[in-house]
This record gives sequence, structure tokens and C-alpha cells, in this order.
Amino acid sequence: MNQVPTAPDGLQAAGRERAMRRALALARLGPAHGPNPRVGCVLLDPDGRTVAEGYHRGAGTPHAEAAALADARSHGVDPRGTTAVVTLEPCAHHGRTGPCADALIEAGVVAVHVAVGDPNPVATGGATRLRDAGIPVSVGLLADDGEELLRPWLHAVRTGRPYVTLKLATSLDGRVAAVDGTSRWITGPQARAHAHTVRAQVDAIAVGSGTALVDDPSLTARRADGGLFEHQPLRVVLGRREVPDDARLRGPGGPLLQLPTHDLDAALRELGGREVRHVLVEGGPKLATALLAADLVDELHAYVAPVLLGAGATAVGDLGVTTIGEAARFATEDVTRLGDDVLLVARRLKPAEDMSVEDRSAAGRSAAGPSAAVQTAALSTQDGRPGRRAQEEI
Ligand SMILES: NC(=O)c1ccc[n+]([C@@H]2O[C@H](COP(=O)([O-])OP(=O)(O)OC[C@H]3O[C@@H](n4cnc5c(N)ncnc54)[C@H](OP(=O)(O)O)[C@@H]3O)[C@@H](O)[C@H]2O)c1
Repeated sequence: MNQVPTAPDGLQAAGRERAMRRALALARLGPAHGPNPRVGCVLLDPDGRTVAEGYHRGAGTPHAEAAALADARSHGVDPRGTTAVVTLEPCAHHGRTGPCADALIEAGVVAVHVAVGDPNPVATGGATRLRDAGIPVSVGLLADDGEELLRPWLHAVRTGRPYVTLKLATSLDGRVAAVDGTSRWITGPQARAHAHTVRAQVDAIAVGSGTALVDDPSLTARRADGGLFEHQPLRVVLGRREVPDDARLRGPGGPLLQLPTHDLDAALRELGGREVRHVLVEGGPKLATALLAADLVDELHAYVAPVLLGAGATAVGDLGVTTIGEAARFATEDVTRLGDDVLLVARRLKPAEDMSVEDRSAAGRSAAGPSAAVQTAALSTQDGRPGRRAQEEI
């Protein structure tokens, strides 16, 4: 019979994994929007039993580790001698709360298991601090799941630009409007309701000034009954033409920010500087095309209706692709039926999240085109996800 590997803290690998899965589930209870990452934490006693749990509920509230320690104490449990299983490396900085690494050291935990190291230059260093205090730390337990949970946040922290999700609502032949310009509604009520739930999970929604002027959208996140979700994303208009004073964009909803530029990298960095981690771009065709041509789209949400228009504006214009090898390829993450429509969620696979725009445009100009980057990443695992990294035990 195979022996189950035992960790330095005496816990069996299966127990640590189970605890990390629980920590990941706890993390998902936190808000998807906001400047801070979603983090979950579980405290295990020496027999591997869960004695406390916690997760981060958003900026200004306790971090997951502090919440788990408080949970233990509220039940009269002394956290001394426990093992902490945390989805993200405990922070080492004084923000709105104290450093979590210090809190764990003071509480007397004996080991820490982490899914993902913290790339945030402000907060990183928690693992080193814990190790310096004689507490063993492993980084990389269920790292792929941790990375997936934190994808927009990690991307934003690593690149300085928010994660860009491009929404397209099209006919089966890829059109967003009929010849006379009418476009309401190509997709059905279920697809539109779904799009509103996505709006409620992002930090910002962006459109080009063309859409702002022609459609006069409100860009609010609304429930099926028309009421506003509690969280309203920042509303961003890209372009030089001004949004009129009486535009719906100036009505109830998130704050309005106009960025009068066509430099999309600079615009995204401006949003990154405002702690926007995830932006949902909702068109129109000119902005979508420019973002795709600059390879700045990280994820596609394509709502496709079984409707044929035959003519009219297409969702995406000329990307400079002249041969199939240059196609901008995405990997399908999910397909959902919404009434008569279908939602395809696909992710751009990039070799390195921290590549500069210059590097990426150069890669796009190479003979193999953008698909080379996609193929490199896809080959690393059979399931098409980035390669599973070895767990680092120290
Ligand atoms: N069915 C759908 O899903 C959907 C979604 C959205 C829109 N639409 C339709 O699309 C139509 C509007 O089309 P559109 O293409 O004009 O809208 P757009 O892409 O929203 O706006 C175009 C404007 O974006 C600004 N912009 C900022 N950066 C740019 C860049 N790098 N390159 C080019 N433009 C940049 C420019 O504004 P300035 O000229 O002011 O500088 C440009 O004129 C409307 O009829 C609307 O109904 C359909």
C-alpha cells in the first residue's frame, strides 16, 4: 500500500489539500471586486482537524488569517500549535490592518501552507518573515486553483494594468447591429441578465465614446427587477468626444471617468493606478478592435444569439490578420446556454503575464504570430492550462 506523504508539521498531504480546498471555497465568499485579493484561511490542529476558518470580506476588513485567528479565539480555541493553510502568502506590511505574518507568529502557529506567493511588492515577504521566526512555510499547494481564483488580481498586480474582459453580444454571423444601426436586442433577456451579474463583479466597465454617444447607456449593474446591485463599478468612457451633461452615464450608478485618449496601454495603466483590478469592456467595435489588435484582451465573453443579420456592423474589425496562423486565438474556459443564446468564455493564453506591450506587439508581428504564444502555453499541459508548478517546501 502506498504511504501517504507526511508534511514537516505532521499533517498528511491529503489533509492539507482538503484544508486548502476549503480555504479556496472560503476565499470565494469574499467580493470579486475591489483592490484586495480574495483570500481564505483554515487553522488545523495537530491531528488535522479544522479548528477555525476565515476569509477576507473586502478592503478595510480583517485579512483572512486575522479572521481565522479571531474565529478560533471566539470559540475559546488557543491557536498555539495549529497549522495555517492560506490561499495567498500572508502579508508582511502595515496596511489598513497589521501584517498577517506577525499575527501568525504571535499566535504560535507551527507551520504555514500557501497556494500562491504574493507578487505585490508592497505586501510580499510574509513567507520569509515566518521562516525567519522558525516557522516552516510551503508555497504552491493547489497553486493552479489559487492562481485561477486570483487571476484578475494577480494579472493587475504583476502588470500594472487591470485584467481586461471583452464582452461581445453578437448574432451568429458576428454582427452587433443591423444595417440601419438598430441593435436592441440581439441577445435575449437571460443573456442580458447574466451580463449584469458580471458587471456587479468587476471594478470598472468601459466603452468607447461612440457607444456612449449613440446608445446613451447607463452602464449600471442591475438586478432582474431593475434595481441596482449594491456594488456599482466605475464607469469609464475612452475617447475625446465629451459625454453630454444629460447622458445616462452621469445618472445614478458608479462614478464616471472619461479618459480622452486613444493610447489604450496608458489608459489601462491609469485605471491600474486607481486600483482597478478588473475592467469589463462593453464595446463598441472600434474600441474592441483596437484592444484586440494591441493584444490587451485577457478574456472574452461572447454572448451569441441564433440570429442571422447578413449585413451590418461586425463586433470586431480588421486586426491585421492576413493568414490563419496569425489569428488571435483564445482557449475556451466555459460554455453556458442562456435561454436561446450561448455564452462562450475564453481566455487568452500568454507565455508571461508580465510581458511589456512592446514585447507582445513584437511577438504578434513575428512570423508565427500571436498563436505561437498560445501554442507554447497550451503545450505545457494536457488540459490547456498553464503548467502546474512544483510545490516549494522549505
Ligand atoms: N451589440 C453590442 O454588443 C454593442 C456593444 C457596444 C456598441 N455597439 C454599437 O456600436 C456602435 C458604436 O460603434 P463605435 O465603434 O463607434 O463605438 P466605440 O468603439 O464604443 O467608440 C469608438 C470611439 O472610441 C474612442 N477610442 C478610444 N481609444 C480608441 C482607439 N485606440 N482606437 C479607436 N477608437 C478609440 C474614439 O473616440 P473619439 O473619436 O471620441 O476620440 C472612437 O471614436 C453603436 O451603434 C452601438 O450600438 C454594439
